[in-house]
Amino acid sequence: MLVIIKNSYDEMSKEAAKIVADRLRKKPNLVLGLATGSTPIGLYKELIRMHKEEGLSFAKVTTFNLDEYIGLPRTHDQSYFYFMWENLFKYIDVDRRYIHVPDGMANDIDGHCEWYENEIKHLGGIDLQILGIGGNGHIAFNEPGSSLGSRTRIKTLTEQTVKDNARFFKSMEEVPKFAITMGIGTIMEAKEVILMANKTNKADAIKSAIEGPVTHMTPASIIQMHRKAYVVIDKEAASKLTHQFRG
Ligand code: F6R
Repeated sequence: MLVIIKNSYDEMSKEAAKIVADRLRKKPNLVLGLATGSTPIGLYKELIRMHKEEGLSFAKVTTFNLDEYIGLPRTHDQSYFYFMWENLFKYIDVDRRYIHVPDGMANDIDGHCEWYENEIKHLGGIDLQILGIGGNGHIAFNEPGSSLGSRTRIKTLTEQTVKDNARFFKSMEEVPKFAITMGIGTIMEAKEVILMANKTNKADAIKSAIEGPVTHMTPASIIQMHRKAYVVIDKEAASKLTHQFRG
């Protein structure tokens, strides 16, 4: 595990983008795992800049997103598909046919999860997976207590998550109660992973994930067992770490 601490969100985003761009230049048909949320937005902005100014091409890339809400169509402005489209896909030359975001409207959710796993395998596995971390140490929608060997599946959202999300919807009925998420076992099979975090509200989670014991109560701590993991964080998210790491 290589922990890289940067002075600002901007620098940290550029550092992560450098790793992605390097892998993409070496393997144009990279299988890239993507995350939503506020953390990777700077990374996506930098990749868009590299695409526009440096000719970084995503034309042969296949993408797999970590998760999606159940019950939201792709056109809903709170769906993760919509997020990816608005924050990355529409600005780069990725082939729409190679984009994978779990389908929250699938009729057979279990069958869809199985298909998602098989599709990852069929493409030779994820080469590089981008991850954010929740304040409680979750990765994707794998909340504390999730099995460390879990695969892509349906998860019930915690009451807290449902409440937190309510502000983005017109009524409580509209707020998704379930999601599809890659499992921790699925994420661990990616050949490389980059875990990103910024701001002080992630400092406790980062400390537990990096310096605490590996436990399902901090799902992100499993990254300690990964053979090729990068933790790219800003000074604030690193503020509770006690060991010396590369700046
Ligand atoms: C999203 C995801 C989540 C987020 C995490 C952090 O695809 O997998 O686990 O990475 O909740 O969210 P932000 O970046 O908004 O703090």
